[in-house]
Amino acid sequence: MQPAPAPAPDADTQRASARVQLPEVEVDLPVIVGTEDEHAVDISRFRDKTGYVTLDPGFGNTAACKSAITYIDGEQGILRYRGYPIEELAETSTFVEVALLLIFGELPTKERLERFRGMLTDEQLLHEGMRYHFEGFPSHGHPMAMLSAMINACGCYHPELLSSEMDDERLLRATATVMSKVCTIAAFSYKMTKGQRMEYPDPSLSYCRNFLHMMFSKPHRRYDPPLQVVRALTKFLILHADHEQNCSTSTVRMVGSSGANVFASVASGVCALWGPLHGGANMAVIEMLQEIQAGGDDPKTVVAKVKDKKFRLMGFGHRVYKNFDPRSKILEKTCTELFDVLGVSDPLLDTARELASIALTDDYFLERKLYPNVDFYSGIILRALGIPLNMFTVMFSIGRVPGWIAHWYELYGDPDRRICRPRQIYTGAGKREYVPMDARRC
Ligand code: CMC
Repeated sequence: MQPAPAPAPDADTQRASARVQLPEVEVDLPVIVGTEDEHAVDISRFRDKTGYVTLDPGFGNTAACKSAITYIDGEQGILRYRGYPIEELAETSTFVEVALLLIFGELPTKERLERFRGMLTDEQLLHEGMRYHFEGFPSHGHPMAMLSAMINACGCYHPELLSSEMDDERLLRATATVMSKVCTIAAFSYKMTKGQRMEYPDPSLSYCRNFLHMMFSKPHRRYDPPLQVVRALTKFLILHADHEQNCSTSTVRMVGSSGANVFASVASGVCALWGPLHGGANMAVIEMLQEIQAGGDDPKTVVAKVKDKKFRLMGFGHRVYKNFDPRSKILEKTCTELFDVLGVSDPLLDTARELASIALTDDYFLERKLYPNVDFYSGIILRALGIPLNMFTVMFSIGRVPGWIAHWYELYGDPDRRICRPRQIYTGAGKREYVPMDARRC
């Protein structure tokens, strides 16, 4: 099967034009309509026609590309990967299947899935040289810093994958390489901080089981998690696998637009994800809940501080979702199911629910359409799986890798592709005359 072609500028998608009136000029611009009837004014020739650029800080009103990968309807709380509802994929698929769906456009056949699993196995081990890189990191170093550095370093060991010229076979190999290596790198960095010996990957295990094995098996005791633990991890990864043009994916596309290779582009995604407003929120939520638990402010006081703008409620709010985040609903349910099966509880879940119920009935949150997002409950699941707090965003990264690769590849095949190079409105000093050093006064 060939890789899914990037969406061509389809005549059907351009259905009308919009008239824009400026002080000196009036211009007709094409209107582009997406599959689900989303409308956009195509401003790519706006400056040529009018001399104006558009200004949109944070790109809240700008579609940076056409994409056929993921659809979100933020008003209705809908998320689909390649047309498939997230609820169905999370319930029934494996993460590897979803990865292939996102990147290649179709659910894999049994044979293709088996072949890809073989490739994942081939790529599990790190080159011995990479082990020495790990030795250079301080044991208290943040695993996100290690992850981005090591993914980029993979490029040194895979010169055959440095070109962005991809056919089906090379893309499959590149995907297997990045997906396998991120797991091994993540587990390696964890073992290093624990001062424990690295557990070699086990080719007989599924992707998620193998990751848990590398994380938690010890030479004298093999970790063999119950099915529900593996299923919870699988759901977590599927729910994080793609989310259209979010900050890290836009970063990957931005870097990839220069022709940068898949390792460099994915490593840049890891860096963008690290921030607390993006993937780093999953850590920040747990820190916030722990502080409440430890006798800091109670949930009501926290909400009052948020309304006074002294604090941001982590794991709440979203640029696109203005009703609910479907991922958050699935994860909350997964918390309950997992705790039932494991016969455990976590006081942080009670605190999270209390905080959510206060916020969800408060006018401040209702007016601003702020709801729990994917990060609100995900950390509680990760805690139950035994993942340490400083690795939460690494887990998000492992989940997001297929989405990053899918967008990197889609961009590469897009006939509309140009290097990403936004304009700016300069607000600095006007032209000044250079003052030589001796003539400068304080
Ligand atoms: N707590 C309190 N107020 C908030 C929050 C929040 N979490 N999020 C937004 N607001 C308020 C904000 O103060 C502003 O109010 P006002 O209109 O009075 O000035 C209004 O809502 C709009 O906020 P914004 O900052 O313009 O919204 P944005 O679309 O630029 O930001 C966000 C989206 C996700 C960065 C933001 O909601 C946020 O900081 N949330 C907390 C961090 C977080 O959970 N991030 C994970 C996002 S989901 C996973 C991912 O994609 O990474």
